[in-house]
Amino acid sequence: MTPSMIERMRESCRMAAECLVAVGRIIEPGITTNHINEFVHRFITDRSAYPAPLNYKGFPKSVCTSVNECVCHGIPSDRVLQDGDIVNVDVTTLYPAKGGYYGDTSVTFYVGTPSPEAIHVTETARRCLEVGIAQVRPGARIGDIGAAIQELAEKEGCSVVRDYVGHGVGRVFHTDPQVPHFGRAGTGKRLKPGMVFTIEPMINLGRYETELQDDDWTVLTADRSLSAQFEHTVLVTHEGVEVLTRRDEIVPRSEDVPWAKLGPLSTPAAFR
Ligand code: MF3
Ligand code: CO
Ligand code: CO
Repeated sequence: MTPSMIERMRESCRMAAECLVAVGRIIEPGITTNHINEFVHRFITDRSAYPAPLNYKGFPKSVCTSVNECVCHGIPSDRVLQDGDIVNVDVTTLYPAKGGYYGDTSVTFYVGTPSPEAIHVTETARRCLEVGIAQVRPGARIGDIGAAIQELAEKEGCSVVRDYVGHGVGRVFHTDPQVPHFGRAGTGKRLKPGMVFTIEPMINLGRYETELQDDDWTVLTADRSLSAQFEHTVLVTHEGVEVLTRRDEIVPRSEDVPWAKLGPLSTPAAFR
């Protein structure tokens, strides 16, 4: 991407990031995932943008809400969030007034007080995104990202989902390159300044296999173990990496909890 394209990409990504902070303020036991959907829909449309999931390949809602053993692409419904649940909210903005770029980012939130298992898988997923981002610089390989993520996840006794990967993003929602969250260092395409893609590791407490449900969207862990995910849209710069969906505020119900483990990269606001 050229500098002027990147500037417009930043605008879409900033809106998506701000939306997640706002979502954090409404997360509590007793709300439905439909309520999150309505909130995200209004947040984005109030800013003259479009919630990219809505009608994307037939997806019926404006955001993905993936609870507990749901790996990704959970469909908002009248399901009531319970104390102890974890829920990933995956926001994707499309900003026509700013060149029609997509911004794609997600966070896993704690609903009330989590179990030790929920904390473990969620904090591992958070750190997996961080170590993935830390690999990004010109000359590094796509495989370096997945290798770093897989090493950490498996060291923590978790597994990395194989069936869904990160992706190039820009004026297209999902484009090249594919960004696996597993693999071998020193393999794959070389990163070059101007490349924009997502890193969005889905980390399971049990085995990595997934199972697509009959609605053709909802993806569950095959063994019904807990799953957590975090996603950022990143830009390869001459210096290294710019996290386009970084936030300048702490995300309530995810980052502000006493049990959240923020790695060295998370401490500066630029990497949150
Ligand atoms: N936001 C998801 C991603 O990170 C894609 C969701 S597609 C949808 O790539 F249709 F389920 F919304
Ligand atoms: Co994505
Ligand atoms: Co996403």
